[in-house]
Amino acid sequence: MLAMTYRGPYRVRLTDKPIPEIEHPRDAIVRVTRACICGSDLHLYHGLVPDTRIGSTFGHEFVGIVEEVGAEVQNLRPGDRVIVPFNIACGECYFCQKGLFGNCHNVNPEATASGGIYGYSHTTGGYDGGQAEYVRVPFADVGPVKIPDDIDDDNAVLCTDAYPTGYQAAEMGNIKRGDTVFVFGAGPVGLFAAKCAWFFGAARVVIVDRQDYRLEFARKFAQCETVNFDEHPDMVLLMKKMTDGLGPDVAIDAVGCEAFGNHLQRITGVKIPLQAGAATVTQWCVNGVRKGGNVSVVGVYGPTVNMIPLGNIVNKGLTLRANQASVKRNLPRLIEHIQAGRINPKDIITHRIPLEEVAEGYRIFAQRLDNCIKTVLIPPSASH
Ligand SMILES: NC(=O)c1ccc[n+]([C@@H]2O[C@H](COP(=O)([O-])OP(=O)(O)OC[C@H]3O[C@@H](n4cnc5c(N)ncnc54)[C@H](O)[C@@H]3O)[C@@H](O)[C@H]2O)c1
Ligand SMILES: [Zn+2]
Ligand SMILES: [Zn+2]
Repeated sequence: MLAMTYRGPYRVRLTDKPIPEIEHPRDAIVRVTRACICGSDLHLYHGLVPDTRIGSTFGHEFVGIVEEVGAEVQNLRPGDRVIVPFNIACGECYFCQKGLFGNCHNVNPEATASGGIYGYSHTTGGYDGGQAEYVRVPFADVGPVKIPDDIDDDNAVLCTDAYPTGYQAAEMGNIKRGDTVFVFGAGPVGLFAAKCAWFFGAARVVIVDRQDYRLEFARKFAQCETVNFDEHPDMVLLMKKMTDGLGPDVAIDAVGCEAFGNHLQRITGVKIPLQAGAATVTQWCVNGVRKGGNVSVVGVYGPTVNMIPLGNIVNKGLTLRANQASVKRNLPRLIEHIQAGRINPKDIITHRIPLEEVAEGYRIFAQRLDNCIKTVLIPPSASH
């Protein structure tokens, strides 16, 4: 089969790989019909995630058609169209039982903090991902959800990560009716967080980025106000000024470890990684949000330390919540919002690229070329 493979930083290539096989009775093999490139894949592509092995296949946002199921998979059968959440989860451990599918304890022998994720280095279990024609889906009786007939593949593929993560970012912000919400990052995750903030009762939503084309899109897609942080020397001061001096009620970090906007953070977090990513945005959120406010972090950071103003979290009495999204837990609500016409996730797709041109797909998305927001890869077998 055709599969994207990693060759080293900034180098991905299409190669031939054997079609995966059932290795365990709870596995399924899925034929991929759509696979996205996520902002998280850029951290891999830029060589920032430890133990990203040459030859591995990325891709944790994919949908497809069940090709084969193991003997213990009762809920799926060949021919089913499925949403495959990016989390691999056993469904039985302490954490899965609580709906914390992103924190499953049985799927990642490499770490106890992060659960299993498709195509996301050996730090999340070393599973091959879905930027390929076929993928092995472990615990197929837990993760995959059949796609309702009225949801097309483009909307379905955004239900595997970007939309659920944006939704959960808003949910973890514990937004109350009338709140002002600042969302950092107008990438797919931030756009969905801004859009979903209204579902939770926000009265005012402001999105921050430096890419004007993304901000322009955000105004239409999420009906929010926008700020280009390159035009403001002091983001924290601006947050206060825009909110009667107090700061917003909720601040959301949908940027993560590769943030721009602070040289010291950038040098120590990205250039010579003394900390686990540039924590610029988390710092802005903590310092800018009002006292007693909520900070929600879905941007990805590494496992070690970051320069975060802990004293301000304590002294301001903030609530800080963070996680990998637990996709499966919120899927029923997410699908309902699409069916009710409140959101059309596929509106953010700007590029549909044949899987064969995956290297070009990465280059366009990584360099923010051609007004790129979201790239979907389409395998040859799904293109007709
Ligand atoms: N927690 C999860 O489950 C989960 C799931 C998906 C993605 N993520 C993470 O969410 C983050 C965003 O993902 P994406 O797909 O939207 O990525 P993306 O790379 O498309 O978007 C990131 C955006 O942040 C902007 N940015 C950079 N510095 C900024 C700053 N200081 N302030 C405001 N904006 C800034 C960039 O210009 C870009 O538009 C990534 O870190 C990704 O790894 C987390
Ligand atoms: Zn992702
Ligand atoms: Zn589990």
